[in-house]
Amino acid sequence: MQEPPIPEDHSQKETILSTKCQFLLWSWVLILISIMISVIATDIPCNPIEFSNYTSYPTQSYPWSISNGYFDEDSFLDIIVVNRGNTSIGIYYGFGNGTFESPKLYNTAYDVAYVFVRDMNNDNKSDIVLTYTDTNQIAIFINKGNQNFNSPITFPVGNYPYWIDVSDFNKNNLLDVIVVNDRAASVTILYDYNYSNLSFSFSKTYPCGNDVTGVSVADFNNDSYPDFVTTDYSDNTISLYINPKNGIFNHKKKIYTSIAPWGIATADLNNDNFIDIVNTNFVSFTISVFSNDGHGNFNKFDTYYIGGTTMSVTLADLNNDTFIDIIAANRADNFICIFLNKQNGIFETCQRFITEWNIYGDTDVDFNVSAVTTGDFNGDNKIDIALCTGQYNMNVLLNLC
Ligand SMILES: *[C@@H]1O[C@H](CO)[C@@H](O)[C@H](O)[C@H]1NC(C)=O
Ligand SMILES: *[C@@H]1O[C@H](CO)[C@@H](O)[C@H](O)[C@H]1NC(C)=O
Ligand SMILES: *[C@@H]1O[C@H](CO)[C@@H](O)[C@H](O)[C@H]1NC(C)=O
Ligand SMILES: *[C@@H]1O[C@H](CO)[C@@H](O)[C@H](O)[C@H]1NC(C)=O
Ligand SMILES: *[C@@H]1O[C@H](CO)[C@@H](O)[C@H](O)[C@H]1NC(C)=O
Ligand SMILES: *[C@@H]1O[C@H](CO)[C@@H](O)[C@H](O)[C@H]1NC(C)=O
Ligand SMILES: *[C@@H]1O[C@H](CO)[C@@H](O)[C@H](O)[C@H]1NC(C)=O
Ligand SMILES: *[C@@H]1O[C@H](CO)[C@@H](O)[C@H](O)[C@H]1NC(C)=O
Ligand SMILES: *[C@@H]1O[C@H](CO)[C@@H](O)[C@H](O)[C@H]1NC(C)=O
Repeated sequence: MQEPPIPEDHSQKETILSTKCQFLLWSWVLILISIMISVIATDIPCNPIEFSNYTSYPTQSYPWSISNGYFDEDSFLDIIVVNRGNTSIGIYYGFGNGTFESPKLYNTAYDVAYVFVRDMNNDNKSDIVLTYTDTNQIAIFINKGNQNFNSPITFPVGNYPYWIDVSDFNKNNLLDVIVVNDRAASVTILYDYNYSNLSFSFSKTYPCGNDVTGVSVADFNNDSYPDFVTTDYSDNTISLYINPKNGIFNHKKKIYTSIAPWGIATADLNNDNFIDIVNTNFVSFTISVFSNDGHGNFNKFDTYYIGGTTMSVTLADLNNDTFIDIIAANRADNFICIFLNKQNGIFETCQRFITEWNIYGDTDVDFNVSAVTTGDFNGDNKIDIALCTGQYNMNVLLNLC
């Protein structure tokens, strides 16, 4: 006799079925989400990014710092390079088509570590601010037109001044200068109270970490007052000062980064309207990217590998997607790294651009990049790159994005 069939347990089957369905459904949702994410992530314009081969212009020995501005009367960007081995600065006057005149040299009298370009006296001409490392001064060369500059006005700062930035810390509509004192573990702010005589009648010094190298000014807490951050090479920290809305700073916040921070730059990297921080790490061959939590706090950083000692870093939107990208100089090799923004403040890996063809494969020759700057040098609204190398060259790479 046949045994009666065991009645099927429908409820259990339904549960299993619905679990299966749910699993499938969720799998599809997840797959769709990851497809969407990967589409968004791969949808970066001009990736990989393209640049022209470099054009070289000679520098004097030990080109060490580079910037750009409008030094003559035309509306074409000019490039300035500090020649440490020649106590001079060289200005490459631009033709506006991506090419430049051979450099015009200006003597500096003392060793210069850094050049900063800004219109300091409000006459719509770029002036030059330099650090004199030997005499512990900054020097301001006021542009008097026709490719000439006034004799420098100098101001005393601390021991071994290095990077400079400029801002109006006390909001009196006059530009103040901030300079790091590398061997004094401090920064000095020179406060201006009168444009017409650039007197900087008042200055104040604030402690930072040891062997402070770089400084960048930005409004980190969105209160419209400029704050600043420094790289403290020997402490593996950055020092953050928030402006108490009077331009006089009180509290330093010490934030750990990677090993031997050197260069620093600030910008809003994820388009949340809060300023983030990027620093290069000389010894760990990396850059650190700190994201602002919206209150001026920087609690964590992402690390990107460069593969050699790295100094100079600059930030610009290279592919015109409104997201800021990172350009870092590799002091230990003949290339620069470009990190494209994945449009969320996270970056692609390094895209290398060769800046001196080392055709003989020399390893004991210095091809290395010391400093990098960005600007639209040929008027096509795309941000180009200029840098200086150990071959005593200033190289220009035009953006082909
Ligand atoms: C750069 O030069 C190399 C070698 O001469 C050449 O193969 C390449 O096409 C050039 N690239 C551009 C963007 O002009
Ligand atoms: C300021 O200088 C720039 C660059 O030389 C020029 O394009 C611009 O027209 C000038 N602006 C005024 C108001 O003179
Ligand atoms: C810098 O270079 C120029 C041009 O080569 C030369 O005339 C000048 O003597 C050099 N100055 C120093 C201090 O070496
Ligand atoms: C750029 O302009 C200069 C001066 O007008 C001219 O001599 C040169 O040939 C131009 N170069 C290019 C690549 O257009
Ligand atoms: C510059 O201006 C400041 C503020 O008005 C004044 O105290 C100082 O004496 C002036 N210096 C010179 C050299 O005129
Ligand atoms: C700024 O300095 C100039 C030159 O010394 C002087 O004539 C002028 O009165 C000063 N202005 C103020 C607001 O102190
Ligand atoms: C920053 O401050 C301005 C002015 O108070 C305000 O309009 C803006 O919404 C703030 N931005 C953010 C991202 O909170
Ligand atoms: C330049 O790069 C080479 C090769 O990477 C390296 O051995 C050398 O130490 C670098 N020179 C300087 C001055 O950093
Ligand atoms: C950059 O993007 C803006 C806005 O999408 C567009 O108007 C402009 O033409 C673009 N510039 C270049 C050089 O592609």
